[in-house]
Amino acid sequence: MNLRQLLNDMTLDEKKDQLIQLATLFYAGAETQGEITGPMEDMGITEEMIQNSGSVLGASGAKEVTNIQKVHLENNRLGIPLLMMADIVHGFKTIFPVPLAIGCSWDEKLAERSAEIAAKEAAVSGVHVTFAPMVDLVRDPRWGRVMETTGEDPYLNSVFAKAFVRGFQGNDLTNDKNKVAACVKHFAAYGAPEGGRDYNTVNMSERELRENYLPAYKAALDEGCEMVMTAFNTVDGVPATGNKKLMRDLLREEWGFDGVMISDWGAVKELIPHGVAGDESEAARKAINAGVDIEMMTACYVKNLKELVDSGAVKEELIDEAVLRILELKQKLGLFENPYRGADEQLEKEVIMSTEHREAAYELAAKSCVLLKNEEILPLQKDKKIALIGPFANNGDILGQWSWQGSKEDAVKIYDGIAQKAGADNVFMAQGSDIESATEDQFSEAVKVANDADVIVLALGEKSEMSGEAGSRSNICLPDVQLKLIEEMKKLNKPIVSVLINGRPLDLHGVYEESDGLLEAWFPGTEGGRAIADLLYGDVNPSGRLTMSFPYNVGQVPVYYNHYNTGRPKDAPDAQERYVSQYLDVPNEPLFPFGFGLSYTKYQYNDLTLSKDYLAADDEIKVSVKVKNVGSIKGEEVVQLYVRDLVGEVVRPLKELKAYQKIELNPGEEQEIFFTLTEEQLRYYHEDLSFESDAGKFNVFVGPNSQECLEQSFELRK
Ligand code: BGC
Repeated sequence: MNLRQLLNDMTLDEKKDQLIQLATLFYAGAETQGEITGPMEDMGITEEMIQNSGSVLGASGAKEVTNIQKVHLENNRLGIPLLMMADIVHGFKTIFPVPLAIGCSWDEKLAERSAEIAAKEAAVSGVHVTFAPMVDLVRDPRWGRVMETTGEDPYLNSVFAKAFVRGFQGNDLTNDKNKVAACVKHFAAYGAPEGGRDYNTVNMSERELRENYLPAYKAALDEGCEMVMTAFNTVDGVPATGNKKLMRDLLREEWGFDGVMISDWGAVKELIPHGVAGDESEAARKAINAGVDIEMMTACYVKNLKELVDSGAVKEELIDEAVLRILELKQKLGLFENPYRGADEQLEKEVIMSTEHREAAYELAAKSCVLLKNEEILPLQKDKKIALIGPFANNGDILGQWSWQGSKEDAVKIYDGIAQKAGADNVFMAQGSDIESATEDQFSEAVKVANDADVIVLALGEKSEMSGEAGSRSNICLPDVQLKLIEEMKKLNKPIVSVLINGRPLDLHGVYEESDGLLEAWFPGTEGGRAIADLLYGDVNPSGRLTMSFPYNVGQVPVYYNHYNTGRPKDAPDAQERYVSQYLDVPNEPLFPFGFGLSYTKYQYNDLTLSKDYLAADDEIKVSVKVKNVGSIKGEEVVQLYVRDLVGEVVRPLKELKAYQKIELNPGEEQEIFFTLTEEQLRYYHEDLSFESDAGKFNVFVGPNSQECLEQSFELRK
């Protein structure tokens, strides 16, 4: 297809209509349709605009998608196919753990595989583009969307951003119908809303933005990610969706991104309540000038762009460029030849929720749970009587947000997993409480059931709506009623193992001290119960490590490992008792640091060695360390390497993750692990935002988490 020619054949009306994205209910071929007098009329959208529109939000299911496309092509004058887009975030119907959990696996191959499977299930259902990966860096667990990202570290987030893009897109999007185009989001810095309140203001210096928040988006684009979605928030006073500096100057000019840029849901029109546009016309002008190609779910573009072009306020060229980018994506996906692409009802039956896909979901769930505490209670013995108590004991709400195609009925619940492993005769169950309320009867039944058991396993947590979009909480403890349930159980003087189902690092007061064993299972997805049972009984040795710090309490938030020193660090040799940077009532450190996670075996780190004590700019240093499994069972360990630049032009973090390796060790086995460090890894943004390294001394840390490391140093010579 000659796209330039096609563009020339389009009228201005057809062009600007190509830029709107609406949900399926607006389309004649959809199974559930909106009334012409309903949302369409409210938004001022006409039939003609829909016939000319370019993409659909939330379409899935081969039958429906095929139908929508067919009817559309019959009515679209130039026969331009629709792009079908949807949020396929951590699985389509086979649901993988939430991305924060996937990050905790530190296994980018499995992450890639999860995206590949999600893409395959979505593609046969007719989806062309997924609104993923979400790679926003996060430091505030009050924000509900921390569950959608891989955590607080720019390097780790970048590694996973690339893995997800590879998994979704593969390397031949045009011919491989099992793949979908990826859309990295939310550009930019959506993960840093003030106070953790969703959609709230983001204020940070450009250096902070570039150093910590931008790398993961950039990594996704370097991997060939086709699309970018804007963020809802402001960045330095300008909403991201109308932010020319972010989109035209940085994304397009500096990074050379020439793919499609889409607004987040309704974000163009939200320029009005943000207070940077007086009406829809001004919102449209600002967004298109700033670089947004597709307006999602509001109609500022379709209603105003023609007039804005006629009056000279918007150059037609900008609209042409936006349309061309959209047409190019359609071309790349092969839609002009085959507008139905992968949609295939027969394949849907064969591919979706296949045994192979469920196995992959199981494996990732088993590798992403993090063992936080174990006072010689885990693994459980199979012949011990277990009382399984709590609102998640027999609850399918373990998929987490953004699993709209997933079904709770398909989920392996914790009870199912444990009963299958230990035998139903060994497991007694009582709900004990709902998530946020309980009756006296529920409590007394739980006490009765627990009385007969050797060990109490509590399945606690947040329901999925308590995290995710618009799921911010100011109190990140478990709901009071569950804390009360723990208190009641504690009175029975039996060992307690708590399993947590939740979408954010929690304040674990009332759980941590009271539990002898504590397993953070996040929202583990479709195979969650099976994975949890295998971990509790030791058929799988826990290997997940946190990628977001667990605060000691919410007053410490934000607390993250790669922070700066102060002029008065608490642990300096000459520190005063009072006039240091500290809280009077809690430690400075989080309860569990980045990188932390226990195992059923123990690893010893020895002989951290650098191949040289200096690094020349064009050379490299080999870092080696010996890691030994000194326990009695096989296990996987995440060996983490951090660096500190001791004197910089601007302050530098106390530690920065630069590399890691996940290794497997048999009992008694020792491996020597090698890393390579080069000058490039030591660069950072200077005062004038130049990105370079400084000569001088650096510390290298290698260890099992960001706090317990062996240390060496070297000098960078330039
Ligand atoms: C979310 C996006 C999502 C979009 C489309 C918005 O509310 O912020 O992450 O992709 O909806 O569903």
